[in-house]
Amino acid sequence: MRIAVLNGPNLNLLGQREPALYGSLTLADIEKLVRDEAARLGDTISWSQSNHEGALVDAIQQLPSRSDALILNAGAYTHTSLAIRDALLAVRIPFVEVHLSNLFARERRRQRSLFADLAAGVITGFGGQGYVLALRALHDRLHGSGPSS
Ligand code: DQA
Repeated sequence: MRIAVLNGPNLNLLGQREPALYGSLTLADIEKLVRDEAARLGDTISWSQSNHEGALVDAIQQLPSRSDALILNAGAYTHTSLAIRDALLAVRIPFVEVHLSNLFARERRRQRSLFADLAAGVITGFGGQGYVLALRALHDRLHGSGPSS
């Protein structure tokens, strides 16, 4: 299975950015955790990060020919981007929305996601481990052993 992982704005600063909220792992550390788990499962990972909304839209538009599923942490665009929502609606690829912090323990404006209703599921509050949990969930779902299969 080919899984794309897309990271949005400011996630390139993980490790130094508000560690009390986001933990001490860097994005490269999380990428390694995900790649190690993917190797164990026999899946391939394509990993990217962008601070730009249009670049994230471009990446989502390209998914159907390249990937079977998506792990998405769109950062603050989660709460604002109709353009990313429209791209997700257009490609209709199964995805898990991930957040390092627990959005529901944060400000009200972060408790709204413009993507969550389109997602197979949302994982929020488990730091970098959330990406690994998302990978396992997508793997099981695409192999017919997930909860909705
Ligand atoms: C985040 C939560 C967002 O509200 C925030 O803007 C981020 C990171 C998270 O992973 O917890 O940049 O997506």
